[in-house]
Amino acid sequence: MESLKKQVGYASVNYIKDGMTVGLGTGSTAYYMVEKLGQEIKKGNLNITAVTTSKKTAEQAESLGIPLKDLNEVDWIDVTIDGADEIDPQFQGIKGGGGAHLIEKIVASYSNQVIWIVDESKMVNQLGDFPLPLEVIPFGHQKLEKILQEKGYHPETRLTKEGQLFTTDNDNFIIDLHLKNITDPHALAQELSQLPGIVEHGLFLDMVDIVLVGRNGQVETLKA
Ligand code: A5P
Repeated sequence: MESLKKQVGYASVNYIKDGMTVGLGTGSTAYYMVEKLGQEIKKGNLNITAVTTSKKTAEQAESLGIPLKDLNEVDWIDVTIDGADEIDPQFQGIKGGGGAHLIEKIVASYSNQVIWIVDESKMVNQLGDFPLPLEVIPFGHQKLEKILQEKGYHPETRLTKEGQLFTTDNDNFIIDLHLKNITDPHALAQELSQLPGIVEHGLFLDMVDIVLVGRNGQVETLKA
């Protein structure tokens, strides 16, 4: 899997052209895209400005000398390249396995083009096997978890490996919903958006333009 991630991550840099403003995603696949982008910039092949989607990606990008700007400082983003946790045949997705989906969604929403880079294990027939992440504000999070429990959504507040509450870059918590099957992603997205305390859910609907899939040692290009 690691070599497929590297292959798609590296291939995605072909979509980045000189002078672009680029959104840099988060996660183990996006890591390789950032690595390759850093190499191209170092070789003098690309002159770009980037906006990052997490502290982790910002640290990596800075260490590689990739010029960064805050979202507020750029007019618009030409292309954002990011990983995903699940993608269905309609190109709807789940993101947030790393807890970065709030900023990832904001950055994607200001992008002319969104590209997801995944290995084949992320392509599914129906969303929901991967737990759906919700970024929630700490205030009243246990009450919210109870409501989600009563709705039958099997919520679980995310913990770190050490058993501490996981906190996002925005000092919020994550509740993962163990849904198994999401039959109507749009209806669920609307319902979750209306629940006070949920800052953002990990359903990324009608957002992606191109998916690059690492499959059998090849990079497949799917256009949404
Ligand atoms: C970060 O919160 C996520 O949205 C990632 O983009 C997603 O989890 C994919 O990460 P991997 O490429 O590490 O699987």
